[in-house]
This record gives sequence, structure tokens and C-alpha cells, in this order.
Amino acid sequence: MKIAFVGKGGSGKTTLSSLFIRHLAAARVPVIAIDADINQHLAAALGLDEHADCAPPAMGAQLPLIKEYLRGTNPRIASAETMIKTTPPGAGSRLLRVGDDNPVFDACARTVRLDDGEARLMATGPFTESDLGVACYHSKVGAVELCLNHLVDGREEFIVVDMTAGSDSFASGMFTRFDMTFLVAEPTRKGTAVYRQYKEYARDFGVALRVVGNKVQGPDDLAFLRDEVGEDLLVTFGHSEWVRAMEKGRPPRFDTLEATNRQALRVLHETADAAYASRDWERYTRQMVHFHLKNAESWGNARTGADLAAQVDPAFTLDERSAASRQPA
Ligand SMILES: Nc1ncnc2c1ncn2[C@@H]1O[C@H](COP(=O)(O)OP(=O)(O)OP(=O)(O)O)[C@@H](O)[C@H]1O
Ligand SMILES: [Mg+2]
Repeated sequence: MKIAFVGKGGSGKTTLSSLFIRHLAAARVPVIAIDADINQHLAAALGLDEHADCAPPAMGAQLPLIKEYLRGTNPRIASAETMIKTTPPGAGSRLLRVGDDNPVFDACARTVRLDDGEARLMATGPFTESDLGVACYHSKVGAVELCLNHLVDGREEFIVVDMTAGSDSFASGMFTRFDMTFLVAEPTRKGTAVYRQYKEYARDFGVALRVVGNKVQGPDDLAFLRDEVGEDLLVTFGHSEWVRAMEKGRPPRFDTLEATNRQALRVLHETADAAYASRDWERYTRQMVHFHLKNAESWGNARTGADLAAQVDPAFTLDERSAASRQPA
């Protein structure tokens, strides 16, 4: 199950992603955590020392390796150089599975121990001075999009992505790549304005979107969120002393998280799990082709000097069967 956390800057995307990842790990659910935000904070929220060697390498820097591996023997993709972030898989492509060991995970993922459980962490990589004005958010987050488009996940496996809410995720197809998108909103006008913008984009693509209230302190906060987002409001988190302690670098054991916040995490888990019933691999494949053709036309063909529409394999549908028939690659 592919799950995204989006929302206004500072709303609590990273905090709630990290709590959800800890919840899944404690429940012994296999989970890959991906930090795809411009501000890279997920590793720290999962208790990793940012300066230590245990932080995952930047996926953005591993793009050549990722492309070379995923392209496999797909005859429609002449070289890794002609592969762009939206190039869809086809016959011959290699697919990723959550529990796999493969060169992509070897290069990009690090295992994080979380009390009794664990998660695999990947990250787009930070934005450096040299990126400013040269590379855009797209080029880094493109590695994530490519992996999601080649990933076949079952019901009891999770990919949790800490995203950026800005319009960048709409320029590419990223926002359509999830079974469930949790929009984190504080009870403020700015927080709910992001919701309305997201909802607008999401509508045309059938994106499953639910609002998760954060830092909700009383009946007035709750009433405000209900008024603003109506029945899209799924659940709310209150101010957490556990989170405050974690912020100070002293995370208590996860099972001491406040009962109401633990209950809210269970609701997120149940809601994500229930989204399995609406999963539609054909639509998922169709949308990736749609965004690929759009990107090919607007910049990809010119950039690579190739006709990237020819990369589309019309007979291919990404699904659990296509993954099974391709293992081991
Ligand atoms: N429920 C909560 N209880 C207490 N503190 C919280 C809670 N949620 C978030 N915070 C605090 O609010 C701050 C912002 O949260 P966080 O970094 O998760 O937001 P974000 O949306 O990921 O921000 P950015 O856009 O900068 O990535 C952090 O200091 C975090 O510890
Ligand atoms: Mg963040």
C-alpha cells in the first residue's frame, strides 16, 4: 500500500509519517519509508543521527543505477539515458517488491531499528546550494516516481512517503501514485487552503484523499476543521508530549505514545488498509502512461532526442501477476 503524507509546511507531515511508520513497524508490517520532501527530516524523526553514516544515500545521486536496473531487457528503452522519471515499465522491465533485496534497495535503502520493529528508509537527498536555480525539485523526486512506477506492493506491505505539498507534485504524476493520501492540516485557514488546492487537482484523477487534523487542541479546533473540510476529515492528533521529547533527541519507547494519538494511528492504518478494495492496477498503469506522454511532449523528447512515446508498452499492466512472472530477474 502506497501512502503519502502531504500538507502545508510545518503542519506535521514528517512527524505523522514517522509515527505511522513506527506504528506499522511495531505491528510487524513490512514498511519502506521514503523522504521525498525538500526539507529532509524523516531520518531524524525516526531517531537517526543525521550526521552519522547510517543515513541513506541520496536517491537523486543514484539515478543512473536505478534506471539501468529497472530498464532490464525492455527493448523499448534503448538506454538509461533515454529513461526519464515517467518512463513506464513494460515487458522486460525489472519490478521492485517491498521485501526484495535488489541493487536499487542495496544502493538507496538503510534499515532503521525502531524499538521492537524496523523499517527501510530511502531519501531523495537534500537540496544543496548547487541545486538552487539549476536542478528543480522534480529531478530529485523523479527517482521516487520511477521507483513507485516499478513497484508492486501487496496488501500487507507499506510504502510511506513524506512529501512536499507544493505544486511541484502536480507537475509530475507523483500525486496519483498512492493508494491513500493523508493531508495533514492544522486548524488554520492556511492549513485548509492547501487542502482545497490538493482536492482540486486530485478530483480529476480519482486520488483518494483524507484530511488528518494535527495539533488539534479542543472542540473549537475540531469544529473549525469540520466546517472547512467536511467529511474528508478522517481523524485528529492532539499536541504530543511524546513528540516533544523525541524532538529533544530523547524518544521514549513508542508504546508510551498518548492513547488518543495511538488510536488515531490505528485509524490511519485501517483506512489505508481499506483502500486496497479500490485498488485498480489498470488505472494506475493508464495514469503513468498519461503523465509520461505529457512529460515526453513538454520536455522529454527534446531533452533526450528520442521519441519517448515509443517507450510505452501498450500490452503491459503493472500488477501482482506481472511481478510474479518476472521474478527472479
Ligand atoms: N502532534 C504534535 N505534537 C507536538 N508537536 C508536533 C506535533 N506535530 C508536529 N509537531 C512539531 O511541529 C513541528 C513541525 O512538524 P513537522 O516537521 O513534522 O512538519 P512538516 O510538515 O514535516 O514540516 P516541513 O514542511 O518543514 O517539512 C516540529 O517541531 C514537530 O515536532
Ligand atoms: Mg517535513
